[in-house]
Amino acid sequence: MASVIELAPSILSANFAQLGAEAKAALDGGGTVLHLDVMDGHFVPNITIGPPVVASLRKTIPDATFDCHLMIENPDQFIPAFAEAGANWISVHQEACVHLDRTLHLIESHDCKPGVVINPATPVHMLDEVLDFVHHVLVMSVNPGFGAQHFIPNSLKKVESLARLRVSRGLEFRIEIDGGVALDTVGDIVRAGAEILVAGNAVFSHGDIRENARKLLEAARAASGKARKRRIVSV
Ligand code: DX5
Ligand code: ZN
Repeated sequence: MASVIELAPSILSANFAQLGAEAKAALDGGGTVLHLDVMDGHFVPNITIGPPVVASLRKTIPDATFDCHLMIENPDQFIPAFAEAGANWISVHQEACVHLDRTLHLIESHDCKPGVVINPATPVHMLDEVLDFVHHVLVMSVNPGFGAQHFIPNSLKKVESLARLRVSRGLEFRIEIDGGVALDTVGDIVRAGAEILVAGNAVFSHGDIRENARKLLEAARAASGKARKRRIVSV
């Protein structure tokens, strides 16, 4: 399957008093998926946004794909509200779901694309039984809860093994990565096989948001193009 690189700006590092304007700037810079981090203070040690904020953003931004990353306990209880608020994709943590298969199908039943997330300490094989029906797998490359943390290099091996599994099993899920994606890490990340790049700090925390997004996406596409050429030459 040809990989299309997409940038998913994470609003966690945005100025929440200017959320709509900052999210739009990141999308103007080339972001196509808006990544919305939902934290409950239980599954992760931080609290962020809930369905009303997603609904308000949806009014301001009617067209972008909304990618709701639920870092919460009991996600089944809140999936209908996030779907109603305007989520397109909803991902849940493998570690938070006792009945993962049921939860992923619940997301589908609300007309959202189901995604599954694994923490840095969770091995890829925990997902063996759901890979054939998830829309995307999100590999956490930091321990979830906060923006602007250091990228955990071991996550590259997990991305590579997901990319291999996708080919060997003839599957279609997309590979997303979240945490520490920046100009100095994005080349390795894309070469490992990640296609949807979540970035908060690198986009929102300094300088011009639109320009930050544009440069990051450009670096990712350049690395992806080179990796593809190398594969063709080596065939
Ligand atoms: C962390 C969140 C991330 C976070 C990534 O728990 O899931 O989406 O915003 O932030 P950066 O890009 O700053 O590492
Ligand atoms: Zn996230």
